[in-house]
Amino acid sequence: MRVALGVTGGIAAYKAAELVRLLQDRGLEVQVVMTRSARQFVTPLTFAALSGRKVISEMFGEPGGEANVESAIEHVAVAQSIDALVIAPATADVLGKIAHGLADDFLTTLVLATRAPLIVAPAMNVHMWQNPATQANVEALRQRGVRIVEPDEGYLACGMTGAGRLASVPAIAAAVFAALGLRDDLKGETVLVSAGPTHEPLDDVRYLGNRSSGKMGYALAEAARRRGAQVVLVSGPTHLPEPSGVTIERVRTAEEMADAMLRRLEAASIVVMAAAVADFRPAEKTPGKIKRQAGLAALKLVPTRDILAEIARRRRPDQLLVGFAAETDHVLENAAAKLKAKHLDLLVVNDVTQEGAGFDSDTNIVTLLAATGETKPLEKMSKLDVAQRVLDEVVALRKVRASKHLTSPAGPPGPS
Ligand code: CTP
Repeated sequence: MRVALGVTGGIAAYKAAELVRLLQDRGLEVQVVMTRSARQFVTPLTFAALSGRKVISEMFGEPGGEANVESAIEHVAVAQSIDALVIAPATADVLGKIAHGLADDFLTTLVLATRAPLIVAPAMNVHMWQNPATQANVEALRQRGVRIVEPDEGYLACGMTGAGRLASVPAIAAAVFAALGLRDDLKGETVLVSAGPTHEPLDDVRYLGNRSSGKMGYALAEAARRRGAQVVLVSGPTHLPEPSGVTIERVRTAEEMADAMLRRLEAASIVVMAAAVADFRPAEKTPGKIKRQAGLAALKLVPTRDILAEIARRRRPDQLLVGFAAETDHVLENAAAKLKAKHLDLLVVNDVTQEGAGFDSDTNIVTLLAATGETKPLEKMSKLDVAQRVLDEVVALRKVRASKHLTSPAGPPGPS
């Protein structure tokens, strides 16, 4: 999800830096847009460094520089790509402009061009805030569905005391999360997710692997973070961008993944094993590169550790355990057997032969099988949506567990 953060020229502009952090910490991408006067208070470099992207400021390229044809239509591209626009701090001037539909710079043009929800956090001198003109502008914006995060009362930079101080940064962030419909139902949970394939080396340049892209596990990590959980992602080799706000540990082999997952198990309250772990590895790794002339008549393979089974044996009763199953035939029968054998709370079943499901795809078609006996077939949807549905189920199972004071499902008696 992408948020544009508009920073306008007031003393409180420096506080927007903290807002960038809080938004990123919930897994949101942040595009900072500054007005010319904001740049008198904080340099764009600060925001570029924090957000990891170029700050947009001028409508037609930098003053004195060459006109930038790309940026002349950039506001439309940004407007379409964002899920929310927040202006913090918002000066009396910008409130007036956006209340009247003026569009004389990038930020105000973006406000007109986007259909994303708009959140505005004003900050100014108390008399400017109380001025009927400002109040009328705020009221007009509110009537149009703009979410106003009211300024706090207190000591103001101008030396006066009263209403006008920028609302607390967490309060502004909370208004953005609410506008995006981000839920908080995994707050307090620590979710440990595995993702991607594993590579099992044959020699120093070759390996056995599989077609997993890691997209499903990354989507789960991102979705859990957005819902307020602390997330640790143990990732096999992938080419995916790292979700923000998530702790990532990169591994290569099944053995390394097993070590990482078991080391991090203790701190987790929910474990989701979405990785496509190799079931076999070459019995020996040949140093260097096996020469073609030397030939390779046969490959001896040995089984890898079954990470999920090890976790199931060592888990505490309060930990929820979610597994994935990639099946090609007798899908539900095989899956039900796996759910039981591995003592899982929930199994996400993939029929990898279906179009639009499984490896490398952006979409997935899964059935959710719970230890409570419930079976939920889901239609084809994006992996992020599948992740949300899996987490919905996890939250529901957590509630059932809490209300029944259940310890463990059909599983073993606890840590061994
Ligand atoms: N898994 C694991 N360790 C392995 C292999 C699989 O932890 N060495 C996990 C996967 O991450 C997944 C679940 O086990 O959550 C089921 O994986 P799957 O490949 O469908 O099943 P397997 O247990 O490997 O059984 P089979 O290949 O016989 O279907």
